[in-house]
Amino acid sequence: MQNFDYLTPTRLIFGKGVIKNLPEVMAPLGQKILLTYGGGSIKKIGLYDKVKELLKDFEIYELPGIQPNPKYDPSVLDGVKICKEKQIDVILAVGGGSVLDCSKAIAAGAKYAGDPWDLITYKVKAKAALPIVDVLTLAATGSEYDSGGVISRTETNDKIGYIDPLLYPVCSLLDPTYTFTVSKKQTAAGCADAMNHIIEQYFCADSTLLNDGFMEAGLKSLMVNARKCLENPEDYTARAEMMLTCTYGCNRIYSLGNSPSGWPCHGMEHALSAYYDITHGEGLAIITPRWMKHILSEKTVDRFVKYGVNVFGIDPALDKFAIADKAIEATYKFFESIGIPMHLREVGIDESRIHEMAHHVAANEGLDKAWAPLLEEDIAAIFTASL
Ligand code: NZQ
Ligand code: ZN
Repeated sequence: MQNFDYLTPTRLIFGKGVIKNLPEVMAPLGQKILLTYGGGSIKKIGLYDKVKELLKDFEIYELPGIQPNPKYDPSVLDGVKICKEKQIDVILAVGGGSVLDCSKAIAAGAKYAGDPWDLITYKVKAKAALPIVDVLTLAATGSEYDSGGVISRTETNDKIGYIDPLLYPVCSLLDPTYTFTVSKKQTAAGCADAMNHIIEQYFCADSTLLNDGFMEAGLKSLMVNARKCLENPEDYTARAEMMLTCTYGCNRIYSLGNSPSGWPCHGMEHALSAYYDITHGEGLAIITPRWMKHILSEKTVDRFVKYGVNVFGIDPALDKFAIADKAIEATYKFFESIGIPMHLREVGIDESRIHEMAHHVAANEGLDKAWAPLLEEDIAAIFTASL
């Protein structure tokens, strides 16, 4: 077990109707709020009106239109501009992971005199950030309980994970009923994203019984509950459990004391989203089984055996490589069964830029140091196998 230093300072308020806590949460953080949101789903579900009504005594400015795979230009830059001009005290992010991530970059940029890209690329370490509160509407990323945001810069094909302890939300309000309207596509993609967050932490050199059990339960919970959410989008119990399982995803709580894995599937998926603007969870679902197949070896097989036996109930008496093959097949079949397109061509990606993307990933994501190291040719092979 490795040493660790862990603090997640985010307050979670979870359950039906918790939006009523919003004024109490916001009051100590200041009067001037920047309300950030996406393309309109929060208006359709009545959440926008509810927020405005609850916060009628505050001074609210708005940044709408934050897109999936949130963009540096215009969203981050526009948000920073408003924060500076209006001397915003606190950001209220209402939406999915993209709205939260964009808000985190804005929060840091608002307290920095230079170009916010300096912070996102770690050229400069942020010294301060505005506080962030969020009302989550989509279970997937774990952004509501972690200190990271992923920002895309279209002109350079960059999609960068920006992590800083200053970016933990002060409070996340998690009401599963707000996820009832999430489409089948986004529900399935959210499940695949959260499953991959666990898989990224599970496949490493050094883990514990405790962490393995927690992660195996997380994977099983996601598979069972995602199916229920797809069958009945208003199944509160299923939406609630899925939301909490996703919330644990990225703040390391699943794997405290584990050795690092390098998060290879995320490293590769970021290029797919950056170059083709695809849905993050779909890109991950496509890559994950191909990555598994690529790294399966005498060195890695025992982790696959544990995963296959404990998550998918594969017969432990079988040959270990047979178990691993079945586990990889079961992973693929599960994603396929929840309606995810399982080939890059189905999401508009052909072979034309594979080598360019593989080069970009190899140069920027440090996957040569992953638990199962990946060089440029490995990355290109995984992309090609995913076509
Ligand atoms: O824009 P609106 O109109 O709100 O619609 C959104 C969007 O079109 C819609 N949606 C959200 N809540 C809804 C809803 N539709 C109906 N009803 C609701 N209640 O769903 C679409 C996708 O939203 P988005 O926020 O993009 O999805 P998600 O939460 O999956 O976020 C994906 C982004 O998060 C990043 C990804 O890379 C991607 O950019 N990630 C962030 C992480 C983090 N901060 O820790 C970790 C993840 O690995 C991930 O990389
Ligand atoms: Zn992810």
